[in-house]
Amino acid sequence: MPAKVVVGVQWGDEGKGKIIDILASRADVVVRSQGGNNAGHTVESGGEVYKLHLIPSGILYADTLCLIGCGVVVDPKVILSEIDSLAARGITCENLRIDPRAHIILPWHIELDGLSEKMRGGSEIGTTRRGIGPCYMDRAERSGIRIYDLVHPEIFAEKAKHAAILKNAVITKVYGGEAIDVDKMIEEYTQYGQRLKQYVADVSVLTYEAHSAGKNILFEGAQGTLLDLDMGTYPFVTSSHPISGGVCVGTGVGPTCIDEVIGVAKAYTTRVGKGPFPTELFDETGDLIRNRGNEFGTTTGRPRRTGWFDAVIMRHAVRVNGLTGLAINKLDTLSDVGTLKVCVAYRKQDGSILRDFPATLEELAECEPVYEEIEGFDDDLTGCRKFDELPQKCKDYIARLEELCGCPIKMVGVGPARDQNLER
Ligand code: GDP
Ligand code: IMO
Ligand code: MG
Repeated sequence: MPAKVVVGVQWGDEGKGKIIDILASRADVVVRSQGGNNAGHTVESGGEVYKLHLIPSGILYADTLCLIGCGVVVDPKVILSEIDSLAARGITCENLRIDPRAHIILPWHIELDGLSEKMRGGSEIGTTRRGIGPCYMDRAERSGIRIYDLVHPEIFAEKAKHAAILKNAVITKVYGGEAIDVDKMIEEYTQYGQRLKQYVADVSVLTYEAHSAGKNILFEGAQGTLLDLDMGTYPFVTSSHPISGGVCVGTGVGPTCIDEVIGVAKAYTTRVGKGPFPTELFDETGDLIRNRGNEFGTTTGRPRRTGWFDAVIMRHAVRVNGLTGLAINKLDTLSDVGTLKVCVAYRKQDGSILRDFPATLEELAECEPVYEEIEGFDDDLTGCRKFDELPQKCKDYIARLEELCGCPIKMVGVGPARDQNLER
């Protein structure tokens, strides 16, 4: 039955949380398959704002099964505090399940994330410093510790003690940092494990069974296409696969499960962290968009870099994700910004025109955006409830984006609330 994937198609923070929350009203199951608490997904419901980092954005619906797949890296302390703060607001996590194969983020991952960023000097990635990269490194190196281990105290203590020898040696001898107190860590994390035990279940099996029973499944992407380890702006990327293909390996289901792939973008572009950004604005218009759009990171509070909509990136995203539709958020933010610009292609230094996003930073460095100007609008869009209610200039802007991206735009956002999403 219908299984939809929702992915970010820029550099994250496109408003995936809002779209998931809206689509989750029609879903039985919501699944996260990659990333960790580097994600920050905002959901506005009933005048309340929820910022979710690890728990799927379907959690606001009491009957929706919320699954965390094997490809997610779980910080036990963070997920428990998220469960507790939701409980304090009357939201139960009874329907939450975590795959036993998911790797856990431990204090040394967080420590090493910070230390290695410092060591990179001026060429740091600008990570969220949540230990994401170091945890995925251990997973790939086959030395990681998983949820199954965490909820079995003896296994956890043994694996943690063993891992600590190398981790503390690297922290102290390579980076000159301070060693982690392993016994204290084991005691603390064993308690987290005992609390998390009740949520552990095989997510591959649960998803497959739900699919076989004809239930509606929603796969919630985190980060965005340009932060993908391979398809993004490497090395300024995250350490997982936010593209739609990542859903299969991060959940444990085959690609034949998936019927639709919705890409979420903003009507302009933002990026938090370092790395190239061809349409970045360094002027007042950039500041205006940042302030109007409240472009400050949900996870770290860092100001987001802002720039024009980039159709080259979008065509890349349509291709690598196999998008069947787009949701364009934050059209309201562009009101009163003046003439709008859209990047339609890149021009290389030799004058040639590039329509496809380059594979490497070296090639990207040789490119500058080719812009098309589109008439702006000054109407307040936040009260619109139907696509037809949008002013003609906005409809024209959306129609032009659709043409340039080569993918139908199915939803347009004019505000953060559930009812500020206009379906076409
Ligand atoms: P995510 O990481 O993709 O889920 O996005 P974030 O939650 O990090 O950032 C998106 C921000 O934009 C959040 O504060 C949302 O509440 C907000 N938002 C989403 N859609 C819209 C929209 O159409 N208009 C406006 N003004 N804000 C929106
Ligand atoms: P959501 O799901 C925006 C960025 C970081 C940094 C790079 C690597 O809310 O869209 P990491 O901590 O993952 O090793 O950092 O990736 N980044 C995000 N940017 N939204 C996110 O998630 C992000 N998750 C990671 O800023 O540039
Ligand atoms: Mg976010």
